[in-house]
Amino acid sequence: MLTAKHITPEELFNTLRNIKVGGTVCHYSLKKCEEFAPLINEINDLKEKKNAVILVHSYVSPEIVYGVGDYVGDSYALSKNAMETKASTIVFSAVRFMGETAKILNPEKDVLLPGALDGCTLADSINATITRKLRKEFPGYTFVCYINTTAEVKAECDVCVTSANVYKVVQNIPNDKIYFLPDKMMGQNLIDEMQRRGVKKDIKYYNGTCAVHIEYDMENIHRIRTEYPEAKIVSHPECKPEVCQNSDFVGSTSQMLDYMVKTKAKEFLMLTECGLSARLQKEFPDKKLVGTCTLCPYMKSNTLEDILRVLKNPRPEDYVRVDPKLIQRAKRCINAMFQYTEAK
Ligand code: 13P
Ligand code: SF4
Repeated sequence: MLTAKHITPEELFNTLRNIKVGGTVCHYSLKKCEEFAPLINEINDLKEKKNAVILVHSYVSPEIVYGVGDYVGDSYALSKNAMETKASTIVFSAVRFMGETAKILNPEKDVLLPGALDGCTLADSINATITRKLRKEFPGYTFVCYINTTAEVKAECDVCVTSANVYKVVQNIPNDKIYFLPDKMMGQNLIDEMQRRGVKKDIKYYNGTCAVHIEYDMENIHRIRTEYPEAKIVSHPECKPEVCQNSDFVGSTSQMLDYMVKTKAKEFLMLTECGLSARLQKEFPDKKLVGTCTLCPYMKSNTLEDILRVLKNPRPEDYVRVDPKLIQRAKRCINAMFQYTEAK
């Protein structure tokens, strides 16, 4: 019996027609929507039947975001959604470290990963052995890991952060010595922000980078400031420090969207993955995007076909598996993040 409301190709086309970036296709045609609509309807039917929820990061393709996503957001909001969901199965349409975080928070649930490309340049830049070595090199330091790390790295660290709460969490940690990993850019931006806030901390950082955000530089900013003097430049803290320092706003992907809603400006340069620009085009049609954006191959390896497969006929490798001993230790690190984020 079908209970989910079915979408027609015409309705889907109306939803996606103004999006010109951020998909596996450059722009959406009615023909493309005729291919997507039956897949979307089958996924939504199966989702109900199997008591599953689909969590989607904003960087994933728009046909997934607007077709089947139950929750769409940044890493922090999605971890909270994963913690609070009553569904028995979680399909995490994003990247492995996000799926692992959902599994750590819900060991009794099935967490399925549809993404075909397994990775993230940041998460892959460090492992548990390197982290243990660093802990020996820097005794007395609180080890703060970005959520973009594997479960085994989280298990070696004290507190986890996301781009939405990194400054607040680090400020609240009652230790002046902080080792931040793995993102070098975010580590440098963290030092700058602590200085701005007058918070004295000795912050060391590792040397990982995100392949998407490292692409942006001062040339992008100079060009836009000259061509579009009214445009607001909005960047993610994984961008280079000089880029962040010369932006009008820096924040997590959800905070970037919130900034655009609140500011009266009409033109924006979004220095992050194209998926966020796609959401801007769909949700705020009166605001204009200027400049270009970069695609994350890992996020964009999620497809409707793979989401349908993991719901219908999952392969053993589609399930996120984390060793129960690791789960206990990594959960402590993630819970510490929730505590420091919710503290005054
Ligand atoms: P957000 O938590 O800001 O969505 O960032 C996730 C990410 O992977 C950025 O590259
Ligand atoms: Fe990883 Fe960068 Fe992709 Fe985010 S955008 S998932 S940090 S590679």
